[in-house]
Amino acid sequence: MMDMQMMQNVIDAYGPSGREQTASDIIKSYVAPYCDEVYNDVLGNLIAVKHGTSGKKIMLSAHMDQIGLIVVDIDEKGFLYVAPVGGISTILSVAHEVAFQNGTRGVVSYENKTKKLTEISIMDLFIDIGVSTKEEAEAKVSVGDIAIFVSNFVEMGKKVAHRTMDDRISCAVLVEAMKTMKSEHDIYAVFTVQEELGTRGAGPAAYAIEPDLNISLDVCSVGDTPESVREHVKLGYGPTVKAKDASVIVPVSVREFIKKAAQKHAIPVQDEVLRFGGTDTGVVQRTRGGILSGCISIPCRYIHTPVETVDMDDVNAAVKLVIACCEEKVLP
Ligand code: CO
Ligand code: ZN
Repeated sequence: MMDMQMMQNVIDAYGPSGREQTASDIIKSYVAPYCDEVYNDVLGNLIAVKHGTSGKKIMLSAHMDQIGLIVVDIDEKGFLYVAPVGGISTILSVAHEVAFQNGTRGVVSYENKTKKLTEISIMDLFIDIGVSTKEEAEAKVSVGDIAIFVSNFVEMGKKVAHRTMDDRISCAVLVEAMKTMKSEHDIYAVFTVQEELGTRGAGPAAYAIEPDLNISLDVCSVGDTPESVREHVKLGYGPTVKAKDASVIVPVSVREFIKKAAQKHAIPVQDEVLRFGGTDTGVVQRTRGGILSGCISIPCRYIHTPVETVDMDDVNAAVKLVIACCEEKVLP
């Protein structure tokens, strides 16, 4: 079962793309006691290793970066103008509270005299950090600083919502799995950087590790809300075994490997075809001469909003599934 205190600290940590060090340090503090080696590579990927005896290497990867708003310019009155870091929705950014790494708080708004909310672009947004002059603003924030949304951890029975389920929930799953798994293979848990900017971190990590198998963990969209497009995946029916997303077609041998491990331990899984968006799965697959790469996803509603919602049953089943895969003796 997921350690809820650990999970909350992992999902709360500041860590937009390219600024993952705080999140990395928190994850490291939880995972290090169960590993033989823990280090950051040049790009900032956090790599936690548990050695086995089989001579085979399994890489598990979950991205630790989150989306944010980067400061582009500061005006005479101290308002901050921004550009997106990752897939930020302009409309959903309006009227939200944000925080910078140094603790500076602000609120996002836009000037509504000329345009309707549905007509604005990211250029129309500004962050108000409560100052009156450029000088006051510059004492708190610099061009290039990145703000993240602030939101509460919402508990709705088994379903829980938070801004960083994509993809810290998978980071927490990996930490929990590393705690208890007993594998005869070398296990490399890789907490990757810069996924939200186009899966930039996972490839170099995979190149260096050269695993026999990679299993990425991420969230996937669902087809169980009122007007959603046709999609097979629902919250609460188990983690998914990915068949395809925009970055990858998962080899049949890898999908069967994951499904067999699930079956053996009576873990419910769903087949997943993601219509939109890619994952670290694809860049790892195309590293070196090609690497066997698959993906387990946590079904998630409202991805890339401050209320990303998952079901704790799926989360706990994902922990079991990761462990089950790593404890298989024969790899695909
Ligand atoms: Co994302
Ligand atoms: Zn993600």
